[in-house]
Amino acid sequence: MAIHRTTGAQAEDGSVVPRFTRAGMLEVPKTRLPEREMLPETAYQIVKDEVMLDGNARFNLATFVTTWMDDEADRVYAATFDKNMIDKDEYPQTAEIESRCVTMLADLWHAPDAAETVGTSTTGSSEGCMLAGLALKRRWQQARRSAGLDTDRPNIVMGGNVQVVWEKFANYWEVEPRYVPLEGDVFHLTADRLLDHVDENTIGVVAVLGSTMDGTYEPVEEICAKLEEYERASGVSVPVHVDAASGGFIAPFVQPDLVWDFRLPRVVSIQASGHKFGLVYPGVGWVLWRDAEHLPESLVFHVNYLGGDMPTFALNFSRPGAQVVLQYYQFLRLGRDGFRLVQQTCQDVAVHISQTLAAMPEFDVISDGRELPVVTFSVSKDVTKYDVYDVSRKLRERGWLVPAYTMPPKREDLAVLRVVVRNGFSHDMAELFLKDLHTAVDWLDDLSGPMPHEEQPSSFHH
Ligand SMILES: Cc1ncc(COP(=O)(O)O)c(C=O)c1O
Repeated sequence: MAIHRTTGAQAEDGSVVPRFTRAGMLEVPKTRLPEREMLPETAYQIVKDEVMLDGNARFNLATFVTTWMDDEADRVYAATFDKNMIDKDEYPQTAEIESRCVTMLADLWHAPDAAETVGTSTTGSSEGCMLAGLALKRRWQQARRSAGLDTDRPNIVMGGNVQVVWEKFANYWEVEPRYVPLEGDVFHLTADRLLDHVDENTIGVVAVLGSTMDGTYEPVEEICAKLEEYERASGVSVPVHVDAASGGFIAPFVQPDLVWDFRLPRVVSIQASGHKFGLVYPGVGWVLWRDAEHLPESLVFHVNYLGGDMPTFALNFSRPGAQVVLQYYQFLRLGRDGFRLVQQTCQDVAVHISQTLAAMPEFDVISDGRELPVVTFSVSKDVTKYDVYDVSRKLRERGWLVPAYTMPPKREDLAVLRVVVRNGFSHDMAELFLKDLHTAVDWLDDLSGPMPHEEQPSSFHH
């Protein structure tokens, strides 16, 4: 058969023009919507190549968010990415799956009556925090109004280590944030200093199960006991919300005897990130109230569901439903035993890393991965030639993303590095990481003088 050169319509349509020589490739539109269409495979190549520069998410030891799922999960994702979570009437089974997940989590977190627990999926923990905070504020307002008291000056009490979302909550919903400052070598909220900050205008106390700063757990049970004491003395009942963004999917499996959840009557709501240790790709969180009484009816909107009524409480209207389906997939796929295995393995890897670091004279271990599988460490005081930021930069040369940041107010003097061990960061990868860390440190130790210092970022929120 004769071979012909491309001419006419074929050439015009561009599909045979070598991919990287096509018009769209030569000048990638960056600021204006292009006038003309391009072939889908050309657009695909451009976009895929651009995001390639983000690097490999599996080397991202900064994030708590899932970067790996089974191939079957990827297939479930591809089969459900068209689902809109708000279309309860059109996608009733996705709505049913969401409700099953809420009940399973209520059971996991020891709600008094799992089947009656109210809760919802969210876009992540941040939306869960906003909704839980709003419910606290509205309940406080209702109680104050019915007692004939003013509602002008609500406050919320939390440790100086809270994630930025709580600062946002306080700002957006006009609640005074009261941060209990860090003290000494304790980098989270403790019960002993709490009551100086609590009063009749406190809508709630936020206790964090798994601090973003160092992965440690705040003592929820002691915090609740201290608030019991306060109630006995003052008659004021202050509820607790547990920000279990990460710990909500770790503690039930790795520290099952730790009492932090709805077993404590003062805990009125809990939120967690399905997309962190809930082991689902980004885009899903959960918030639950211990019972309907703790979610004021005035915050609930009603959507049509199979011709019936479906109550919703959300900041968004439309939102992807696929991650909710993926959460259910993960619950079925792993079950309690599977979750325990995955999370225990993460913890074993984290503890191995912290023990290796503890044996290196260059570092001091701040948290050893025995609560959340998160290791934080600082450069020892004897090291004068480099700091945590230099170590972070050096590791980046090998692709590892390890954030360096200072602790919150009152301990800003302490700068740390943090490694989050997630599903997929295997023992083998940990060995590769430690080898690269040793090489980086050897290089830095061999410097003839101190590293020249640029201005360092002061904080890091993740
Ligand atoms: C303790 C804590 N709360 C809330 C958040 C916000 O979570 P998300 O990223 O799921 O919105 C984070 C995120 O790291 C966190 O660590």
